[in-house]
Formats: sequence, C-alpha cells, structure tokens
Amino acid sequence: MSVIEHVPLSPYTTFKTGGAARYFCTATTIAELKTAVDFARAKQLPFFVLGSGSNVLVPDEGYNGVVILMACLGREYTSVRESVVELTCGAGEQFDEVVSETVARGLWGLENLSHIPGTVGATPVQNVGAYGVEVADTIVSVTVFDTVHMRTEVLTAAVCLFGYRDSIFKQVAGRRYIITAVTFALSRVPQPQLEYADLAPLTEAGVPTLADIRATIIAVRSAKFPDWGVVGTAGSFFKNPTVARDSIMTLCKKFPALPMYPAQEGYVKIPLGFILDKVCGLKGYHQGLMSLYEKQALVVVAERGATTQLVEQFADNITRMVFEKTQIVIEREVTMMK
Ligand code: EPU
Repeated sequence: MSVIEHVPLSPYTTFKTGGAARYFCTATTIAELKTAVDFARAKQLPFFVLGSGSNVLVPDEGYNGVVILMACLGREYTSVRESVVELTCGAGEQFDEVVSETVARGLWGLENLSHIPGTVGATPVQNVGAYGVEVADTIVSVTVFDTVHMRTEVLTAAVCLFGYRDSIFKQVAGRRYIITAVTFALSRVPQPQLEYADLAPLTEAGVPTLADIRATIIAVRSAKFPDWGVVGTAGSFFKNPTVARDSIMTLCKKFPALPMYPAQEGYVKIPLGFILDKVCGLKGYHQGLMSLYEKQALVVVAERGATTQLVEQFADNITRMVFEKTQIVIEREVTMMK
C-alpha cells in the first residue's frame, strides 16, 4: 500500500470543493486498512475513511491527516431460506451497481434505493433512505474494523442503532469502527413498497416488476436532481426536521398542503423542501455561485469555482432564513471532513 502526500481532494467529492489531504492511501484489503491506521497513529494524525464523497465537504485548508479511500470490494450471495438471500458486499462497492445487480437477479429490498450515489460502506452511516425505504430495513449486519482492538467484528443491525439519517457510526461510540462490508437480506418474493407519492403511477397497472420500479425511480430522480457530473452537489443538504406537532399548528393552518410523515409520539417529520419552497420562497434562490436547485429546494448546488467556505456560508444563511420564518432549527445531512 503506497501513501501519497498532498493529494487534492476536490475530485474525490461530489461538491468538488476543498483542499488537499496531507496523506492519502487506498485500502483494498483489511490488511491495508490496518497498515493505514497504523501509519496515521505513527504520525499522530487523524484519519478519515472516504467512499465516493457524495455526502462530505472537505475544508478549503485541506485535511491534516490520512485520508483512506475505501476500496474493499466483493459481492457474495448466500441462500439462507427458500425466499431469502443474503448479500454481503465490500464497503468500497458502488451502491447503485449493487442495486442494479439485485434488481437483475430478481431480489427485492433495495430497488427503491436506485440511483443513489455513493459506496455501500457509506449507506449504513447515515442510514440512506428514499421512496419509503431505508437501508436499515434490509441490513442484517455490518462488518467493521475496530480501530481500538485492531480486529474485524460483525455488528448486528440492532447494535447499529439505526434512525432517520442516523446510526452508531455518526455517534462518538461508533467512531472506532471502519465499515468494511454490509450484509443485506433480500427477498425472492415480491415485496413492492409503493406508498411514496412519486411512485403512485406504478400502482395503476397491477404489481410492477423490479425493473419497472427501478426505471420509475431513476426517472423521478433524474428530473429532481442536477447532473452530478456538471455541478457540485450532495443531494439533500439538510435533514427533514422532526418537530413537535403542537409547534407547527400555525404553519399548518397557513399551508394546509404541508406534508407530514409519522415520527415519535407527539412529533411529525416535515419535508424541508416544502418549507424552503412554499413557505420561504427559496426554491432556485441564488447567491453568487451557490443556489437551491430550481427543481428541488432541498438540494444545494455549487457552480464550478465555488469553495467549501461559500457552501458553508450559503448553508448558514439558509438555516438562518428558515429559522426566522418558521422558528425551526434545521440540521445538515452533509458532514465536514474532520
Ligand atoms: N417539496 C416541495 N418543493 C421542493 C421540494 C420538495 O414542495 O422544492 C415537497 C414535495 O412536493 C413533497 C415533499 O416536499 O411533497 C418531499 O419532497 P421529496 O419527495 O422530493 O423528498 P424530500 O423529503 O425532499 C427525501 C430524502 C431524499 C430522498 C427523497 C425521496 C431527506 C433529507 N431527503 O427528500 O434523500 O431521495 O426523500 O424519498 O430525507 C438524500 O438524503 O440525499 C436524498 C436525496
């Protein structure tokens, strides 16, 4: 495993901003991962494990540590019951390539998560979700390299503490772990999840096939998200806020169309895209090189030439404007490399 110095990181993130990594290496095996962690410790520097960089911002001053590009590959299918197949995937696999393969093999469970950028290893971190499905719904276990004991461990889904865009891997307790593989349980029996409004057309002609669902989701997403190859973006920049039901009564009266999703007792999750668009009038809002996408206000777009500082300032402004208008404090989904 070779370690390279001063590697620009902007090509490794979908925002395409930020500075260089002091040290950069690629881990294709657990042994290389261990070497990389040992290297960082020997230099007394932090390390950061990077997948496809589709949910991460790199500081403009760069990262004074060791960036480890996760490249552990492999896909292994095991029949566990007549109708259930378990798929264990290396963390460095591209998630959408895996989804596409499961659809082609007639395995149900991941199809609603079609066209999501990023690696398999990134999906449990923020419990990636779309169109009524979260990866946690199919995850059986997550294989990790424990950097405290320097050995591999298998964490069951219960230990991973999955929540909405949350898991142990985002919490202090989970920082010791590097995800090396994920095991999903998939079904041979059709289990279409079509409750999400965007999928309504699919219910009109009987039970759709896996391929129909994937094609519809790809069409919906292509219409709502900008071209990742052209502009800097990370999909939804903020999380949808969960608020006390009582606290948004005034807002509901003023905007009766405000959608609400179930949350814990007394609370509801509301789509920030609706708030940004219909309540704050910010859809398509521009500030220099930064904007909220004209077809989906929750998507922050950075034009070529933008810096991480510009992204940060823009996101802070949006956070402030939402608070001034609604008193709702919003949180970011995108994380900073640190
Ligand atoms: N809406 C508007 N205006 C907008 C955007 C949305 O009125 O500009 C309304 C929509 O009409 C809809 C509601 O807000 O009634 C929700 O919008 P949408 O279905 O597009 O989903 P979202 O809540 O904005 C979430 C996830 C996405 C995921 C979609 C589809 C979060 C933070 N985002 O977005 O995930 O693809 O649902 O399931 O939960 C991501 O995390 O990066 C991501 C893209």
